Amino acid sequence: MTVHFIGAGPGAPDLLTLRGRDLIAASPVCLYAGSLIPAAVLDHCPPGTRIVNTAPLELDEIMTEIAAAHAAGLDVARLHSGDLSVWSAMGEQLRRLRAMDIPFTVTPGVPAFAAAAAALEAELTLPELAQSLVLTRTPGRASTMPPAESLANFAVTGATLAIHLSIHNLARVVVDLTPAYGADCPVAVVWRASWPDQRIVRATLETIEQAIAGGMERTALILVGRVLAAENFAESSLYAPGYDRRFRPLDATSRFAGASE
Ligand SMILES: C[S@@+](CC[C@H](N)C(=O)[O-])C[C@H]1O[C@@H](n2cnc3c(N)ncnc32)[C@H](O)[C@@H]1O
Repeated sequence: MTVHFIGAGPGAPDLLTLRGRDLIAASPVCLYAGSLIPAAVLDHCPPGTRIVNTAPLELDEIMTEIAAAHAAGLDVARLHSGDLSVWSAMGEQLRRLRAMDIPFTVTPGVPAFAAAAAALEAELTLPELAQSLVLTRTPGRASTMPPAESLANFAVTGATLAIHLSIHNLARVVVDLTPAYGADCPVAVVWRASWPDQRIVRATLETIEQAIAGGMERTALILVGRVLAAENFAESSLYAPGYDRRFRPLDATSRFAGASE
């Protein structure tokens, strides 16, 4: 018996990995985080699957479900939205499973920030403008932030920011970022990226609050950075004609000549 943790992606059922789909199809028990996972993903469950929405459960109750499946020798597909490496609550479940000596696997998924960037048709790292992407959030009712992980601190870097779980804190985001990024810095809010009712609002730090005007709640990602409206950025050296590289040696005298085979 194995518990398969599976990143279920940002919402569109066809943004699930093939491995994730096959594991769901092979597991007689499916526990899913119901607040963000669409019903269509559950269509991959085999007939007769015990399907449990864990959104209203406490951690102990989730572990009781898993222990019961373990006792019965039944594999479990454990679905969380997006990828499992960020804000999935997988860490605490894995710690319990290790203590209970229950085997598990971890299958990654498409994270919300990637789906939002795709919706915006945007590369979030552009030469000379931003070479880092910060995945972060603001404090919530259930989660405080480590003191150094403030938006103001991240803003000092000028990196592109992908701010999760924070659409209700938009006013705070604007106040914290404006000194470093400037009022004209581009902002995009993507609501329910990849869902059929996906919505995008593009504005600046100065105008984003008015542009949204309370029209988006919960499942939205706030992206901030100059890359979002950049036109005159440099091209990368990688494909530049004069750039000598292993997979495209310039000539026979290149230090990479013959190296790519
Ligand atoms: C609990 S976190 C889950 C993050 C997820 N594990 C991931 O890899 O993206 C939920 C937050 O992720 C963002 N999010 C998740 N799915 C989204 C989507 N389809 N569109 C926009 N934002 C999304 C929102 O900021 C939401 O508040």
